[in-house]
Amino acid sequence: MQACTPCHGREGRASPVGYLPRIAGKPAGYLFNQLVNFRDGRRYNAAMSYLVEQLSDEYLREIAEYFAALDVPYPPPPATTEREGVLRRGEVLATRGDFHRRLPACTQCHGYTLTGAQPAIPGLLGLPADYVIGQLGAWKTDNRRAATPDCMASIAKQLSSDDVRAVAVWLASRPVPPGAKPAAQPDLPLPLECGSGLR
Ligand code: HEC
Ligand code: HEC
Repeated sequence: MQACTPCHGREGRASPVGYLPRIAGKPAGYLFNQLVNFRDGRRYNAAMSYLVEQLSDEYLREIAEYFAALDVPYPPPPATTEREGVLRRGEVLATRGDFHRRLPACTQCHGYTLTGAQPAIPGLLGLPADYVIGQLGAWKTDNRRAATPDCMASIAKQLSSDDVRAVAVWLASRPVPPGAKPAAQPDLPLPLECGSGLR
């Protein structure tokens, strides 16, 4: 797993600034799904795809379980220079959604504390804002896909680029609660069906 640390940091803990996602402590099913997605062309990143292209499901499962089991602390969030109005808009979208657009709150699936749920919904805290913007943008343009029905694609496509920015900078400004862990299971039923969230 030392091949992963130059980019994802010591023990996969990355950094909340820059572009690289932390992988330590994410649900194993989520990590496994992503490794398979890079291998099978549902997500694109040259380095990631190259590293996993020859690996079997069994081996990817082991890698996922290794990083999922790492329990390493999160650093405090980087200081934000965003305007209050932008942060506020992000918070409303994340915690309440938009009833008029039938847009669910991010917390409905990612958890009340936004720390994700087993087996396959990731937490949204402790990630660089640019990474979150990049992922939502990739879903909008079909450059990132999850198992169908791909609920995140429908959600991302409903968000304007101002919404994406607002929610990403608000998420990145939030501290990760100490001892935060993905919940044992999501609050069912999910507001939209997700092919990838439950396995
Ligand atoms: C050269 C840098 C680099 C190396 C080495 C690397 N990664 Fe990555 N990894 C990335 C980047 C960049 C992304 C985000 C790509 C994107 O935009 O979708 C990523 C994404 C991921 C994700 C998805 C995370 C998420 O939250 O969705 C997983 C899982 C992952 N890498 C695991 C690994 C593992 C395991 C290794 C070692 C076998 C590894 N990576 C090595 C750069 C790297
Ligand atoms: C209906 C359930 C649902 C809702 C609501 C939802 N998500 Fe998700 N989200 C998921 C699932 C399932 C995944 C895992 C997808 C996969 O396997 O690639 C995910 C993954 C993500 C990721 C990828 C994280 C990473 O590490 O790469 C981001 C970013 C994200 N969601 C942001 C959001 C935001 C922002 C909102 C609110 C505007 C939101 N989600 C609302 C179900 C949901």
